[in-house]
Amino acid sequence: MPAPDPGPLLACPRCDQGLSALAGGGWACGPCGTRFPLVGNIPALFADPASTLGEWRNRQQFAVESHAREAVRLQAALSGTTLRPLARERLSLLQQAHADQARRLQELLAPLGVEQRGGAAWATHLALRTRLPPDQGLTTYFANIHRDWCWGDPENAASCELVAGALGGEAPYPLLVLGAGAGRLAYDLHARLAPVLTIALDFNPLLLLAMSRIVAGEPVGLWEFPLAPRSLADQAVLRTLSAPAPAGPGLQLVLGDALRPPFRRASVGAVVTPWLVDIVGEDFQALAGRMNRLLPAGGRWVIFGSLAFGQADPTARYSLEEVLSLVMDAGFGEPEVREDELPYLCSPASRHARRETVVTIAATKAREVPAPARHRALPDWLVTGTQPVPLLPSFQEQALSTRIYAFLMGLIDGRRSMKDMARLLVEQRLMTREDAEPAVRSFLLRMYDDAQRDGSGYR
Ligand SMILES: C[S@@+](CC[C@H](N)C(=O)[O-])C[C@H]1O[C@@H](n2cnc3c(N)ncnc32)[C@H](O)[C@@H]1O
Repeated sequence: MPAPDPGPLLACPRCDQGLSALAGGGWACGPCGTRFPLVGNIPALFADPASTLGEWRNRQQFAVESHAREAVRLQAALSGTTLRPLARERLSLLQQAHADQARRLQELLAPLGVEQRGGAAWATHLALRTRLPPDQGLTTYFANIHRDWCWGDPENAASCELVAGALGGEAPYPLLVLGAGAGRLAYDLHARLAPVLTIALDFNPLLLLAMSRIVAGEPVGLWEFPLAPRSLADQAVLRTLSAPAPAGPGLQLVLGDALRPPFRRASVGAVVTPWLVDIVGEDFQALAGRMNRLLPAGGRWVIFGSLAFGQADPTARYSLEEVLSLVMDAGFGEPEVREDELPYLCSPASRHARRETVVTIAATKAREVPAPARHRALPDWLVTGTQPVPLLPSFQEQALSTRIYAFLMGLIDGRRSMKDMARLLVEQRLMTREDAEPAVRSFLLRMYDDAQRDGSGYR
């Protein structure tokens, strides 16, 4: 059976008009003229594809360089003459793993290209307010790749069982998985429910490029660096990531932003948001309205995962009860809810493993609600440059601490002691006598810790 054409479902994430297929691959929006390229064979349906892919390319460079730098540090450590044999063995394993991981990531991410982002593209990106969240690196969810395609079968099967149940065991047309990650759930649901079309959308190209190869039946090798290795050999483990069988036709991968979903109104039979609603960069209330817009009456929304809202704004850190009430306010009928305890990211190579009480919420669309405003990742004053920069309380606090830090930095001359510095702070009326000495110590402690750090946070 040929794969179905997703074209009729797609809409421009910039102006909501329909898209047409480009002759050489990719999609284009006639009315606004935006062209959406393919990354490998995955359409990149971002509102501003050039800039978003440029941002991901920067993160690619950062991820690859982090491994390469770590390999160099390990090589230097290996040249020590007093190393015990087991330490040499461990460092040598890690050195080879990091150097090899840099090559593997570069190769896997090659379809992102090496083209650099231009200044004009960046300006458009800002104007569209589509900036990627700063806390989302290419490898933020790296463990998911290994869980999905190597050692996570019990976890994967349990998740599929719960979500398939919440979808009523039926095959919607199409099934949309938003924030699909490395894609195992989308793959399993596609195999189990056999929808004609399953769309797995995520904004992270590393996860989708790995998934794309794996579900095509091409195993991928990547190193796992477990959080708490069980043994020396577990410090770095080369995993072969593979699917039980190549995916059947109709499993379509899409690079896109869940907050600007590139689909026409009421075009999706069911939408699943696994482990997404609490980490996404939008208030749940607006997100629920967005899900309503994607579905026709009778369409299903399945929320799966934890509800660990960590938003800065305390009013947006919703409880389960609030989530259910907001789902109903967003035009859905009374949701079915269940809670189950599941293993979560339990790598056999790690002593660190989690159990999570996972919630599965199934809600059916009952009525239309007003469409939420287009998602804006940045406020106007940051975009236009003409409006006053608001004097937020956190800005005020930071302004004061930056003044104090700058003052303290200027006092470090290789001669003054902490007490000398604290005395000067008091004389300048920047702090009281009681506060000054502990503050100087904690500032210098942080500076000292930073100086000791290896600077190799993999993102
Ligand atoms: C906690 S992970 C869950 C991944 C997958 N659903 C699973 O259960 O393994 C969250 C996923 O959402 C993706 N994500 C976060 N914000 C997104 C956005 N605005 N648009 C698309 N994907 C997003 C991340 O890249 C990541 O893959």
